[in-house]
Amino acid sequence: MNPLITDFRVHAPATPVIVALDFDNASTTLNFVRQLRPELCQLKIGKELFTASGRSLAESLINQGFKLFLDLKFHDIPNTVAAACKAAAQMGVWMVDMHASGGKRMMEAAADAVAHFSSPPLLIGVTVLTSMAQQDLAEVGVSCSIEEQVLRLASLAQQSGLNGVVSSAQEAELLKSRLGDDFVLVTPGIRLNTDNTQDDQRRIMTPKAALASGSHYLVIGRPITQAAAPAAVLSDINLGLL
Ligand code: C5P
Repeated sequence: MNPLITDFRVHAPATPVIVALDFDNASTTLNFVRQLRPELCQLKIGKELFTASGRSLAESLINQGFKLFLDLKFHDIPNTVAAACKAAAQMGVWMVDMHASGGKRMMEAAADAVAHFSSPPLLIGVTVLTSMAQQDLAEVGVSCSIEEQVLRLASLAQQSGLNGVVSSAQEAELLKSRLGDDFVLVTPGIRLNTDNTQDDQRRIMTPKAALASGSHYLVIGRPITQAAAPAAVLSDINLGLL
């Protein structure tokens, strides 16, 4: 199906693409964003850019009309994560995430903290990073399969009142079948057939295949930000060509 006509229910953006703005300063970021429009993509600020340029850049992007995913992957005691999510909601972000491995009480506290906002951000739990393979998981003491661990953490996130999870698109079909259509699936680790590197990502998929597997949102960084013509790549993804 053409992603532009997919019904995304939650806050219903017209495009599944979230562009990861992994730049190290505000002026490079704002120059890059000039090529984009809010109808063509959502934007994501992560740890690098937020640490460098903080809240003022985030607010400037929101004021330009972009839906903003604040990807700071909170992981702390319940009180601290709840307060951080409340601050994100006050900033007007559209989506914010936390590590589901922080546990049920942490995620419930986060959900409670934003419940009274008229338009709360989507709360998303990070399951297993897309940069991790089975061996990486074993090294941190997790001996089950990646799929089992992703499903365990995603189920916990759902029970705790979160709106969805981050996983690789390789787990999207499984998550959709077990957790239902309304649980939001956000998938990084997207690479184009024309990309000749997977960089540090391990569990990768093309945009078309990821959407066919049930992903609602595709987080895409380097395949767009490092492209010779970023807007053209974005447009081809939106048209379902890549
Ligand atoms: O450049 P690339 O497409 O690999 O960027 C992926 C983006 O998604 C990065 O900003 C990374 O921090 C983020 N991300 C991820 N895996 C997760 C959650 C977020 O790669 N589980």
